[in-house]
Amino acid sequence: MRILLVASAFNSLTQRVHTELRARGHTVAVELALGDEPVRAAVARFSPDLVLAPMLTRAVPEDIWSRHTVLIVHPGPKGDRGPSSLDWAIHEGAEEWGVTVLQAVAEMDAGPVWASVPFRMPACGKSEAYRNEVADAALEAVLLAVERHESGWFEPEPLDTTRWDVRGRLRPYHAQEHRRIDWAADDTAAVLRKLRSGDSQPGVLDVIHGTEYFLHGGHPEDELRGTPGTVVATRHGAICRATTDGAVWIPQLRPRRTPGGPATYKLPAAQVLGALLDGVPEVPVTPWDAARRATWSELRYHEDAGVGFLEFAFPGGAMSTGQCRRLLDAYRAACTRPTGVIVLGPGRDFYSNGIHLNTVEAAADPAEESWRNINAMDDLVEAILTTTDRVTVSAVAGNAAAGGVMLAIAADEVWCRTSAVLNPHYRLMGLYGSEYWTYTLPRRVGADTAARLTGAALPVGAHEAERLGLADRVMPGSAAEFRRRVHREAVALAASPDLDTRLLEKKRRRARDEEEKPLSAYRAEELERMRRNFTAPDEPYHGLRRAFVHKVCPTETPAHLRG
Ligand code: COA
Repeated sequence: MRILLVASAFNSLTQRVHTELRARGHTVAVELALGDEPVRAAVARFSPDLVLAPMLTRAVPEDIWSRHTVLIVHPGPKGDRGPSSLDWAIHEGAEEWGVTVLQAVAEMDAGPVWASVPFRMPACGKSEAYRNEVADAALEAVLLAVERHESGWFEPEPLDTTRWDVRGRLRPYHAQEHRRIDWAADDTAAVLRKLRSGDSQPGVLDVIHGTEYFLHGGHPEDELRGTPGTVVATRHGAICRATTDGAVWIPQLRPRRTPGGPATYKLPAAQVLGALLDGVPEVPVTPWDAARRATWSELRYHEDAGVGFLEFAFPGGAMSTGQCRRLLDAYRAACTRPTGVIVLGPGRDFYSNGIHLNTVEAAADPAEESWRNINAMDDLVEAILTTTDRVTVSAVAGNAAAGGVMLAIAADEVWCRTSAVLNPHYRLMGLYGSEYWTYTLPRRVGADTAARLTGAALPVGAHEAERLGLADRVMPGSAAEFRRRVHREAVALAASPDLDTRLLEKKRRRARDEEEKPLSAYRAEELERMRRNFTAPDEPYHGLRRAFVHKVCPTETPAHLRG
């Protein structure tokens, strides 16, 4: 079928739908919903058999839905309506939720149902749930709806609120008045529900030392305590605030924009508060201890049966200079342990999205900070590439992009969860790219495919990644199932009788490659191009980064998405 995706942004779910529909042989084009006219023009140009809206925040014009079947993905169970479905679900502590595919009609979210898939709500922030459980259920519902539409005989079910299985209802916008934290009264569970329902947008508006900030991210703390509402500790840029019965970690803050003032964006909370935190102790935790405690940490390390598992999880998958260096330290420490295999990657969600564009934007000299950040990424990748005394595995539970993909493919093996979407390109940020990609990517996929992937700048699904050689294994299931399977297979790999032969071959290959062209030469060539990207006046990088950080809406659908 010819399927036109109409979306408010080419976000993670739209990308996933795009890769999965293409993989099933459909011809897919994307039009960003930037106004009724461009959408009308796209429909006229593309002549779709079906219009599908994976993430749409505005209504589809009547002249389109009355002439074409338009299916809308709604992140709520049957009967749920309104613009803040997930916010309400998390706020109210729903244990089960759902995704419904509805046909567009005059009334928002009230059309006949083509498919509805339930899921168990995880204990995490809204955007993490959206990229994982919601995306998995949405994909299942979309594929079912597309199949039903293709069959030609399926009659969608009119929305009937008296039916036993229609439990949702129309709910209003989840405004800040519902999110406000009463630090003197709310317990940890209530504070976490509020923080998590507002993550990543719009955050929870709060006042710290007389200034208004949006709080982003919320994680429990098991030991620290204090007067409710006060900041009792910092850790790697996050702040810990006491509640009535415990404490919570908040990794990021965004100052509220003052009328006429400059636009604001998320940054590490401690960086935003700066001197206001004088006297507040930095309370570190080692990756070993973090793995055994219910506290917040970007790094966790544990071992089992000859395998070291180094888990990292950075908000938005962005890795600042400091985050890269801390991960490198943890990696080096892991390499001193008596293990045969090291598994790298978060327990769930984003693997990595490369350098931290927000901290770069906030730096006094963004070009210089970009340089430091990319060098810190390169140091980390180099350490992985030059590890020859053990096998390294990247466990890609969630999406990865740009330098984050190149970080993953620095490992000997890449194991990908079926639902992960990879964006192995830098072009959209106006960068040549680094992280030794000119060494690793062609070696895995061949020079032609490397050029196609980096030039086309389209997302790649996990199965396609495996077919191309970008991934070595693809594993189905939820994030938790993926984590268990990675554990099992890594332990089997460490116990394999071939491990020593494999390591010998790995050493030989690295030596051969080094002789042919040293890693330092790849790095120097890439960085020369990057230096130009960062410093030359005619380069688009700084403008593109600024637009990304400030979430500037594009004025038209980028040509590479139009199909
Ligand atoms: N630096 C800073 N923040 C980043 C980031 C980065 N490299 N990559 C993602 N984020 C943030 C986003 O701004 C967003 O923040 P929000 O929660 O305030 O909205 C959050 O992480 C999730 O990203 P989002 O863009 O909403 O996710 P997506 O799944 O829809 O899109 C990407 C994923 C990777 C395609 C997109 O985020 C992207 O293009 N990132 C930049 C990649 C890059 O060019 N890196 C630098 C070169 S190495």
